[in-house]
Amino acid sequence: MFKKLTLSALTALVIGSGGAMAAGDAGHIEDFDFSFEGAFGTYDQHQLQRGLQIYTEVCASCHGLKYVPFRTLGDPGGPSFTEDEVRAYAEQNFEIFDEGLDDFRPAKPADHFPANTGAGAPDLTLMAKARAGFHGPYGLGINQFFKGIGGPEYIASLLTGYTGEEKEEAGTTLYENTAFPGGWISMAPPLYGEDVEYADGHSTSLHHEAQDIAAFLMWAAEPKMMARKQAGFTAVLFLSVLAVLLYLTNKRLWKPVKYGRKDEA
Ligand code: HEC
Repeated sequence: MFKKLTLSALTALVIGSGGAMAAGDAGHIEDFDFSFEGAFGTYDQHQLQRGLQIYTEVCASCHGLKYVPFRTLGDPGGPSFTEDEVRAYAEQNFEIFDEGLDDFRPAKPADHFPANTGAGAPDLTLMAKARAGFHGPYGLGINQFFKGIGGPEYIASLLTGYTGEEKEEAGTTLYENTAFPGGWISMAPPLYGEDVEYADGHSTSLHHEAQDIAAFLMWAAEPKMMARKQAGFTAVLFLSVLAVLLYLTNKRLWKPVKYGRKDEA
């Protein structure tokens, strides 16, 4: 009976969550597949490198990434560049204002990415964690339980969600976007497909580019995701072994009490 009740309650919630999504005003979010999803998912080093290329060549002209130090581009689990590659990348692509020199100089691995330069363009460091692509009915978060929070899905859907419609409002041009809450965003479509030439020859369709930059921004927001998952897995394993040992200890301790009389007889 209880089982039946829980089952029907769960079914109702799941069906309810689907309905609420369809009717919601939060914009349409496509459920992109990312390599880092699931309990054992990891970042795809090459995808992160491609995403970084998009960020550098397209997004960096407006958006900052000010909480990310260049040196982390060499961390294991991330884009995993070599030390020399990180140094060359920072030097070749960014200039930092040095207060000591009172002048600009090429960036070094110890520097952070610059802050944003475009008017009204938010910093992207934590964007993948600041936005939720999936919502549950009435804030229950059932969709998030099954699909994840959906930050990277939101970003990829945003970049692929332009309809091509524009309108002028109070002197600002707004672009219609199916993923953006409210439907009109002031960021002109930054990607059209074939915006970059990937070093690894990967497809540069709009869909792939959007997914690559979204994956990169997820890494920027949570560079230690793999370490977190690993720690969680170790903890679960440890607790399972501990539970078995405690069970056996318990059996053993109470054995004389349970079987004591029989032994005497
Ligand atoms: C020409 C400048 C410009 C470029 C280039 C640009 N953006 Fe933006 N972006 C903006 C502005 C301005 C906003 C604020 C839009 C608003 O709130 O209406 C924004 C907002 C965003 C947001 C936040 C949307 C939200 O939910 O609030 C994301 C995510 C984003 N941009 C990602 C990107 C990515 C990824 C790229 C590179 C592929 C990029 N942008 C390139 C100007 C730019």
